[in-house]
Amino acid sequence: MTELSFIHRFEPATAPERPPLLLLHGTGGDENDLLALGRMVSPGSALLSPRGKILENGMPRFFRRLAEGVFDEEDVRFRANELADFVAEARAAYGLAAPVALGFSNGANIAAAMLMLRPEALAGAALLRAMVPLQDAPQTDLAGKGVLLVSGAMDPIIPEDNAGRLATLLASSGAQVRHEVLPTGHGLSQTDLQLLVKWFAEIGT
Ligand code: MLT
Repeated sequence: MTELSFIHRFEPATAPERPPLLLLHGTGGDENDLLALGRMVSPGSALLSPRGKILENGMPRFFRRLAEGVFDEEDVRFRANELADFVAEARAAYGLAAPVALGFSNGANIAAAMLMLRPEALAGAALLRAMVPLQDAPQTDLAGKGVLLVSGAMDPIIPEDNAGRLATLLASSGAQVRHEVLPTGHGLSQTDLQLLVKWFAEIGT
């Protein structure tokens, strides 16, 4: 694997017309976690999968939190910029177009922060169980970027109105947001997978 600023896995595209994916794992995951999901939802896409640099009790994350659902926003800003820099580095090293993020939980939250702070880093994002990552994010221009947000109505970590607020924020910056609320909790379900397959098929053409 090429040495870049994040430990990562990279799989080249076998269908170069499909967008590259930036895979962002949840708390306690690593760069291997979402590769199978990425292959399933967007077959043939290049896969770029970094490991979060923060350790919380030995569990990798993409930014620090003060408590569950309470973020160290200074760190969110620093880490979102650091990850956007990595994406630029990886694009140059591997010859990639801007990727679409596919993030779960903490990985979805850092992807949402990147959309707000460094929109040029991503072509769009599928955010699974995401919440508002920054209380006063700058208004950015997300015109032309698709965002799929999939929340769980019974998610014990993310209040439903918080996910709704994130959808509104991203849409008010011009993103084409689809927000689906499933009758489930924080974990992923078969319906998440079906929604992802459908959404990636739509944006990949
Ligand atoms: C976060 O810290 O990003 C959220 O609380 C989700 C999580 O990682 O559990």
